[in-house]
Amino acid sequence: MQFDTTIYLIGFMGSGKTTIGKKLASKLRCRFIDLDEKIEAQTGLNVPDIFSEKGESYFRKVESEVLKSLAGESGIVVSTGGGTPCFGSNLKLMLETGLTIYLRLTPEQLESRLMSSRSQRPLLKNVDKDKLLGYISGKLAEREKWYNQASMIIDAYDIDYTFLLSRVRELIKH
Ligand code: S3P
Repeated sequence: MQFDTTIYLIGFMGSGKTTIGKKLASKLRCRFIDLDEKIEAQTGLNVPDIFSEKGESYFRKVESEVLKSLAGESGIVVSTGGGTPCFGSNLKLMLETGLTIYLRLTPEQLESRLMSSRSQRPLLKNVDKDKLLGYISGKLAEREKWYNQASMIIDAYDIDYTFLLSRVRELIKH
């Protein structure tokens, strides 16, 4: 399907932005871009190494630059990082240049997804197993201020692709 906007997927770590983004792009027959992968290609470092060697503020600076570099493109699906909408003017840029979809999960659902992968995630690797739910609940409550401004909010734990696709098609037609 030809469309002239960018579809941005936003949401907490573990919400399925990359998996859902790839599937959506394949259904829409368009290009898929993973923002973290672009950041890794640009810096030559993986995300955990960027955090440990250069610090989070450097990561946020590159994240905003890479996002800006995509703003001129159209007909693409972009999966962002969990923090992307919550820094600088990233959310404003996404709202102005595309369709922003928040993939919503409860803290308990996120905990079940993130428990085994937390050691690979810079923000979670020092959080004890028994503190993970509390950490997620707090961070999600902070971040929902941004996430909830998305043009579309979808409960994404057990996603209904037919429903998602029909809503997206409806919105990108206009
Ligand atoms: C982050 C989420 C990560 C990655 C980085 C920071 C965050 O992406 O961008 O570790 O601040 O929530 P995912 O949401 O794809 O895990």
